[in-house]
Amino acid sequence: MRVVVVGAGAIGTVLAGSLAVAGHSVTVVVRPAYLERVRADGLRIEDESGTTRVRVTVEDRPPLDGEDLTILAVKTFDLADAARSLRAVLPLPVLLPQNGLGVERTADAALRTAGWSDPGRYLVRAVNSVPATALGPGAARWGGHGEILLPAPEEAGKAAPHVAEFQHLLASAGFGVRLASGFGRELWRKALVNAAINPVTALRGVPNGELLGEPYRSESLELLHEGARAAARAGFVFADAEIDADWERVVRFTAANRSSMLQDLDRGRPTEIDAISGEILRTAAAHGLDLPRTRAIVELVTARVAASSPRAQPS
Ligand code: PAF
Repeated sequence: MRVVVVGAGAIGTVLAGSLAVAGHSVTVVVRPAYLERVRADGLRIEDESGTTRVRVTVEDRPPLDGEDLTILAVKTFDLADAARSLRAVLPLPVLLPQNGLGVERTADAALRTAGWSDPGRYLVRAVNSVPATALGPGAARWGGHGEILLPAPEEAGKAAPHVAEFQHLLASAGFGVRLASGFGRELWRKALVNAAINPVTALRGVPNGELLGEPYRSESLELLHEGARAAARAGFVFADAEIDADWERVVRFTAANRSSMLQDLDRGRPTEIDAISGEILRTAAAHGLDLPRTRAIVELVTARVAASSPRAQPS
């Protein structure tokens, strides 16, 4: 397959590198500032077996035609720009593996402004649990294959025909791919866990495993349970025991990780707080529900970003 991966952060590097190693023809699109460096160095993936260097085609804009599939492997705050960069590209299936909620809406709107007439036919959402840490443009530490959930075709709407294409692509590179019925609930499950883990680890500056002990555990679980109240109003009910078990599993599995939001704060970048906790707050508000702890932590993360970054506001 000819695959375009937009973004060479943690997940973009791991996906692009693994797909290239599996024999696919991969073009990675990076910011112009990183073009020469990533072209010269190739991709670098570190895992427990050592360091793998992978040569791929590197461009600062997507190739115009001839590609089969696209993965927009950028953070939510860069998603609209990344989607608009497909302006001159003939419509082709697009995978959206971002954290957060409302991602399809953002991509759909941006692709419409880029001239695609019916983006919904091409957009396949994914819930990504591949553990990866960015080490710099085109370089990442990979904690193992992890699982990628895709919607069961009957839940993928007009993009249903493309689910199997991404399933086969990702599986061919060794990723565990599962087609999930109740995919909307899976998106909420991941968002709730992110809303509980990411802002606490980011503000406290601790790896995920620290959440297993106090005072972080209570702080994180309170966010989890507040978020679950919003999910219930949106029609996705999670019993405390279920969502607590998910939280515990993810925290233990990723104990050594510095969460993506912590990595963003460390680098003075915007964070995904709006697409995760912000969307949870908006859902709650639409149902007349106030989530004071979530509201407070969104304000704290937003203030921290504004204090440390020239790119204060997500685009
Ligand atoms: O955003 C992240 O960092 C990850 O989704 C997770 C699961 C919280 C692990 O660090």
